[in-house]
Amino acid sequence: MKAATGIALLGALLAEAAPTDDKRDVDTRFPYLGPAVPIGDWVDPTINGNGKGFPRLVEPPAVKPAGPKPKNNVNVIQLSYVPSGINLHYQTPFGLGAAPTVHWGTHAHKLHQTSRGSTNTYDRTPPCSEVAVTQCSQFFHNVQLPNLAPDTTYYYQIPAANGTTASQVLSFRTARVAGDTTPFTMAVLNDMGYTNAGGTYKQLLKAADEGLSFAWHGGDLSYADDWYSGILPCESDWPVCYNGSSTYLPKPNGTGPADIPVDDPSYADPLPAGEIADQGGAYGGDMSVLYESNWDLWQNWMSKVTMKIPYMVMLGNHEAACAEFDGPGNPLTAYLNSNITNGTAPETELTYYSCPPSQRNFTAYQNRFRMPGKETGGQTNFWYSYDYGLAHFISLDSETDFPYSPSYPFFRDLEGNETFPMENETYVTDAGPFGYINGSWKVNEAYEQYNWLKKDLASIDRTKTPWVIAMSHRPMYSSAVSSYQKNLRNAWQSLMLEYGVDAYLAGHIHWYERMYPLTANGSIDAASVLNNNTYLTNEGTSMTHLTNGMAGNVESHSTLPWNETLPITAYLDQSHYGFGKFAFLNATVATWSMVRGVDGSVGDEVTLIKKGANVTTSSGYGQHVQGRSSKWEQLGYN
Ligand SMILES: *[C@@H]1O[C@H](CO)[C@@H](O)[C@H](O)[C@H]1NC(C)=O
Ligand SMILES: *[C@@H]1O[C@H](CO)[C@@H](O)[C@H](O)[C@H]1NC(C)=O
Ligand SMILES: *[C@@H]1O[C@H](CO)[C@@H](O)[C@H](O)[C@H]1NC(C)=O
Ligand SMILES: *[C@@H]1O[C@H](CO)[C@@H](O)[C@H](O)[C@H]1NC(C)=O
Ligand SMILES: *[C@@H]1O[C@H](CO)[C@@H](O)[C@H](O)[C@H]1NC(C)=O
Ligand SMILES: *[C@@H]1O[C@H](CO)[C@@H](O)[C@H](O)[C@H]1NC(C)=O
Ligand SMILES: *[C@@H]1O[C@H](CO)[C@@H](O)[C@H](O)[C@H]1NC(C)=O
Ligand SMILES: *[C@@H]1O[C@H](CO)[C@@H](O)[C@H](O)[C@H]1NC(C)=O
Ligand SMILES: *[C@@H]1O[C@H](CO)[C@@H](O)[C@H](O)[C@H]1NC(C)=O
Ligand SMILES: *[C@@H]1O[C@H](CO)[C@@H](O)[C@H](O)[C@H]1NC(C)=O
Ligand SMILES: *[C@@H]1O[C@H](CO)[C@@H](O)[C@H](O)[C@H]1NC(C)=O
Ligand SMILES: *[C@@H]1O[C@H](CO)[C@@H](O)[C@H](O)[C@H]1NC(C)=O
Ligand SMILES: [Fe+2]
Repeated sequence: MKAATGIALLGALLAEAAPTDDKRDVDTRFPYLGPAVPIGDWVDPTINGNGKGFPRLVEPPAVKPAGPKPKNNVNVIQLSYVPSGINLHYQTPFGLGAAPTVHWGTHAHKLHQTSRGSTNTYDRTPPCSEVAVTQCSQFFHNVQLPNLAPDTTYYYQIPAANGTTASQVLSFRTARVAGDTTPFTMAVLNDMGYTNAGGTYKQLLKAADEGLSFAWHGGDLSYADDWYSGILPCESDWPVCYNGSSTYLPKPNGTGPADIPVDDPSYADPLPAGEIADQGGAYGGDMSVLYESNWDLWQNWMSKVTMKIPYMVMLGNHEAACAEFDGPGNPLTAYLNSNITNGTAPETELTYYSCPPSQRNFTAYQNRFRMPGKETGGQTNFWYSYDYGLAHFISLDSETDFPYSPSYPFFRDLEGNETFPMENETYVTDAGPFGYINGSWKVNEAYEQYNWLKKDLASIDRTKTPWVIAMSHRPMYSSAVSSYQKNLRNAWQSLMLEYGVDAYLAGHIHWYERMYPLTANGSIDAASVLNNNTYLTNEGTSMTHLTNGMAGNVESHSTLPWNETLPITAYLDQSHYGFGKFAFLNATVATWSMVRGVDGSVGDEVTLIKKGANVTTSSGYGQHVQGRSSKWEQLGYN
């Protein structure tokens, strides 16, 4: 059926009023039947924990309260760019009783300007009235300071309101105007949670102190939806399991010390030193056990970074809902659908209605961040772009709003002549669309996201921003081959090539993988490979693909099921955590480095040189990439 019909009818049934820019609609036709507050700790299911179960982790708030047990507090502060300005986002447990306010100026002692903004909230569960307020965020404030001078330091202070403590005098630096040719370096992070991300965090903070301009996080922020990892028994295809105190390789049918399945040699690979293992064991996880508290924990932790440099984000699959899948025995189906704690269900039956309403359809993501979709013709936090000096950056939504997107809109669940899906026809990660679909949902051109991308690409002034970098959460190519990659290629690749995007960045796979520059049919543009670590950009013909999903999270590293990468892979690192550093040196040279979290060393590097530029390099390309046939070809890759 035509998508437009489905959306119109769905819209009529949505429980809430027409959304403002900051609101998301969630459907509530079928009741949520699970516990008021789902908690993935059955030994100690109390909200704050009483010391018997898995510990509830906490991180310090962005503003230290004046005394113990504050009644309200600024727990998170985040900077993000809006065109010619900055958005100051901050979070408190309770309302402020007034419009959020920021005093600011160009001198630390002369904060003579005052700007006011607006506040969003959602029905988080548990509400902040039931938990320690210095860890909890339920009110999300955005104050914009527009029309600022570029590349300038401003100072600001968030005044006290309804019990909060005033912030210190803090500062930020505005973006360089498009066309400013001064070299700069920015950071790219993907798939960064809390567990296993300590090294990345440390190196990121260090880089921020050393002059990083800003950071760009390509989806999977916090891994809040892995709150239940402590209650799922190990699955045989998880690389390793963690039972709260010990790491072991999984037994096919549950917990217990190593029992390596013979059909999958990757189980024999030991974890890299110091790595905390994948998923949960029977009664313990290795992060917090509440969805919303995981968000709070991660955001409080990241505030040290997000207060220092602008932090641009995009969504990933982990932002969609409170859960993604059920495990052996389907304990989540029993818990969320039938309110049975520590039980089993015969089938995996998670639906859109399995999560509490406030944990569906990217609601937490939409409230907890503020990206410049509105200001750049895009869609709130879902797709947008921004300029910095010599580069134009494009953030895309890989989960919804393109043909065959991984998260389904409701109309894709319909059977026969239905106008609404039945409860059991929906999926837990159903979400969106967030933009229009004007025609068949199977056609690229019908989508607002596609049309926005095309318009955005067409509007770039390459004399000002010769570098164009696009990112979405998911890769178009990976040695972990999956069907979504083809859908993404079909959606965006030809547009990106046509308009000369230099590099496409992604995460989702929890490793670092650098591809050679690839043409429209996925083959290596051999003429653009000067050597192992130097590529020419080749507008209209190829672009460089980087998968950067190694920031670290509770799901640990991804591993290859066998030891052979794709022939299009230049470099694969499955064992280090870290992030990408992109240095834009001038209009013709940019260098990407993979920075290791463990010690800050550079694990991989690739220099991109504009084709036709007068830059001398050593040339060694040839034998390394040619003539390999592989298992992937037998699998029908291509
Ligand atoms: C879920 O179970 C708990 C205790 O077992 C009970 O207090 C609560 O009311 C139940 N919730 C629903 C929606 O049935
Ligand atoms: C959960 O169920 C398992 C198996 O029925 C049982 O061994 C365990 O003690 C239960 N745990 C709790 C915390 O109730
Ligand atoms: C002010 O904070 C209190 C908690 O101390 C909260 O109960 C109240 O709702 C807040 N006021 C407003 C107007 O949000
Ligand atoms: C975790 O595994 C270790 C090693 O097998 C074992 O000694 C420990 O008792 C287990 N802990 C739990 C909570 O099951
Ligand atoms: C695991 O369980 C399945 C089904 O319950 C059974 O068929 C299989 O033999 C079990 N495998 C082992 C190694 O116990
Ligand atoms: C939908 O189709 C069923 C049979 O597949 C039919 O019985 C029913 O009348 C149809 N409903 C509408 C509204 O057309
Ligand atoms: C879905 O639920 C309906 C009744 O609400 C039932 O008739 C149908 O068989 C169910 N479908 C599946 C796939 O379980
Ligand atoms: C998600 O939110 C959008 C925007 O409010 C809405 O149009 C869409 O129908 C919602 N989708 C689902 C599956 O809830
Ligand atoms: C990698 O796989 C090849 C064959 O597929 C095998 O010959 C080789 O020993 C493997 N290397 C490692 C390090 O496992
Ligand atoms: C750009 O930077 C590279 C690396 O520092 C340098 O070799 C090249 O000469 C520069 N090009 C221009 C036009 O400044
Ligand atoms: C290519 O570069 C990577 C690091 O960037 C290095 O580990 C690898 O050995 C190099 N390969 C060749 C063939 O030089
Ligand atoms: C290229 O640069 C070198 C010095 O870096 C210069 O000697 C040479 O003339 C330049 N060639 C062209 C065609 O601009
Ligand atoms: Fe992901």
